[in-house]
Amino acid sequence: MSLIQIGVLGAGTMGSGIAQVAAQSGHSVVLVDVNTDALKRAGDSLQKVLDRLVEKGKIDENQKEQIWNRIQFSSSFDDFKNCGMIIEAIIEKLEVKHEVFKKMESIVSADCILASNTSSLSIASIGSALQNPTRCIGIHFFNPAPLMPLVEIIPAIQTSDLTLKTSKDLIDSWKKKAVIVKDTPGFIVNRVARPFYGEALRIYEEGIADFATIDWAMTSIGGFRMGPFTLMDYIGNDVNYTVTETVFEAFYYDPRFKPSFTQKRHKEAGYYGRKSGKGFFDYSENAIPANANEDPKLGQEIFERIIVMLINEAIDAVFLNIASRDDVDVAMTNGVNYPKGLLNWADEMGLAVVLEKLQSLFEEYGEDRYRPNPLLRKMVKGGQTFY
Ligand code: NAI
Repeated sequence: MSLIQIGVLGAGTMGSGIAQVAAQSGHSVVLVDVNTDALKRAGDSLQKVLDRLVEKGKIDENQKEQIWNRIQFSSSFDDFKNCGMIIEAIIEKLEVKHEVFKKMESIVSADCILASNTSSLSIASIGSALQNPTRCIGIHFFNPAPLMPLVEIIPAIQTSDLTLKTSKDLIDSWKKKAVIVKDTPGFIVNRVARPFYGEALRIYEEGIADFATIDWAMTSIGGFRMGPFTLMDYIGNDVNYTVTETVFEAFYYDPRFKPSFTQKRHKEAGYYGRKSGKGFFDYSENAIPANANEDPKLGQEIFERIIVMLINEAIDAVFLNIASRDDVDVAMTNGVNYPKGLLNWADEMGLAVVLEKLQSLFEEYGEDRYRPNPLLRKMVKGGQTFY
């Protein structure tokens, strides 16, 4: 059986990675960008990536040639005409996405799927630009796309079952971990992960501990690969703050997602993190590493406060049918490398312990942000576990 041709619109960070993934899975790929410099950069960086794969012995010279020859770089939408699916990865602006989706629909055949890699726009709103919105779906990769296994698949209310099934089968065939998510802000990962940053910032703002101590608690006690402040510096405080603000607005200002002034000031000061040489930590050459206060009792308190907030968010995603139990756990372990799925973690800690901790935060602060999820209460009452 010959594989369908894949189109990718946008040859930036995400588009070039997605094109590589599709070509490595044997598809012929058309990568289109209006900016010829972007196409050139994507080509150069793909050559380098493929060379490195050869050096590491992951592919041989012959396979490298084949993968390279499968990708056509183009600045014309007309080259999409034989594609069975196009994944759009251009700038995050709804009006521009509407325009390109209309243009793509006018070129492709009736059964071509038109997907978006958007992180924050609703798929229903993107699809509304099409004559046939049933062919529109969200296919959300993580950066870097060739390395991160998770892909969130987001059917909109207009999406047909066939579009969903074809997309899911295709992503499975690319050896990715596909999860299915309702068309809601932040999908799974960008929603459930918010407290990792937000609660860490809040703990700092209350003066309970400094950045280094909070990071130490989450890595050494929690087993996370990076602490929240190191991770925010890595993502960039400009990018991470904007995601938080977008999710907060999209949830009609639910206090659970409230952004932090500390991060906002860091963003305003240009303290973006690694890329600017300074963020919560100093990345200059002669920087003195920040010392953590490695007090086990304090560390445990910090870890527990952040983990129960993360678990509460994961439970909310199941409670509101955003995704299944398994998909929520798969998303956090494969999309952001959490050491364990949060629902699995909840079982291990004991749901009653999680509820008690949330309840005590809720009582201490009297803030809605700490309200325990109704599903958690119900499960504790019924003596249930997630697995
Ligand atoms: P980028 O800025 O690296 O690349 C965007 C590319 O689209 C540029 O090369 C630009 O020339 C091209 N472009 C802009 N308008 C166009 C048009 N009208 N027609 C054709 N090409 C056009 O952006 P990035 O980071 O790759 O993001 C792309 C999309 O992926 C966005 O929707 C973003 O929200 C989403 N995303 C980004 C992630 C990330 O970590 N960067 C992760 C997951 C999703």
